[in-house]
Amino acid sequence: MRKFFQTSWFGIPFENFTIQDSQHIASETFYTKFYDQFFQKYYSYNDIEPQWCNTKDQVTQLVLSQIQNRTSVLSIGCGIGYVEDSLSKLWDGKLTVIDPAKSNVTRWLDTNTKIERILGYFPKDVPNNQDFDFAYANAIDYVFTVDDFHLFLQSIQQYPISEVLLISASFQSSRLKDSLKYHLKQIASNLGLIPKGQFWGYLRTRKEYQNALIDAGFNSFQDGFLENGTYWIKGIAK
Ligand SMILES: C[S@@+](CC[C@H](N)C(=O)[O-])C[C@H]1O[C@@H](n2cnc3c(N)ncnc32)[C@H](O)[C@@H]1O
Repeated sequence: MRKFFQTSWFGIPFENFTIQDSQHIASETFYTKFYDQFFQKYYSYNDIEPQWCNTKDQVTQLVLSQIQNRTSVLSIGCGIGYVEDSLSKLWDGKLTVIDPAKSNVTRWLDTNTKIERILGYFPKDVPNNQDFDFAYANAIDYVFTVDDFHLFLQSIQQYPISEVLLISASFQSSRLKDSLKYHLKQIASNLGLIPKGQFWGYLRTRKEYQNALIDAGFNSFQDGFLENGTYWIKGIAK
């Protein structure tokens, strides 16, 4: 597992709205401020770069392929809800989304009556008695330390939700070239040659993802890569 840092996201430099903190991970306040900037730059899903949309379209297809026999699905850390908006047009079950950012981050879903929205964290902010037979978290696991990741996955397994799909935006490649690139960047930022940036989260290896699901109580897993190289892993608790 390795720490990684970021200086911009969606073409928005973090220095425009905050002092970047290389010691502490981006907080809920950070994400709230970020999304305030984001919604000043983008006015609808159509404004976002096609490459980002293509990547997320592959995620939508993956999720869709997993939920054909499901009736109630939860998306944890949905962000702006692009995948969920697409999914709701292709799948007829009950789709619930949850995200902690306070800047009405799901505002583009306002007119989408097929999606139920919750502001906050899973599981503490999910109102009682909601059953889900499948959950997925797209590009959020990078925020968790080893212990928090364990508690997060355990809380899903114990909720109980019998299957969870993680789509990783923070996969730690085992290729020598990628490892060298990572270390050279670390050296350059430690020497002050390039800005270190905001502490963004953790990269995890395939083995670390697999072990995390099993340690959290899932009985088995399936994993693979999307066409664009994105790693995914599904924990199965039955
Ligand atoms: C990189 S974005 C991904 C958003 C969306 N899933 C996507 O793929 O476009 C990460 C999201 O995770 C949310 N987040 C941050 N910490 C979280 C936590 N502890 N639990 C759940 N979501 C969290 C943030 O508010 C943000 O919207």
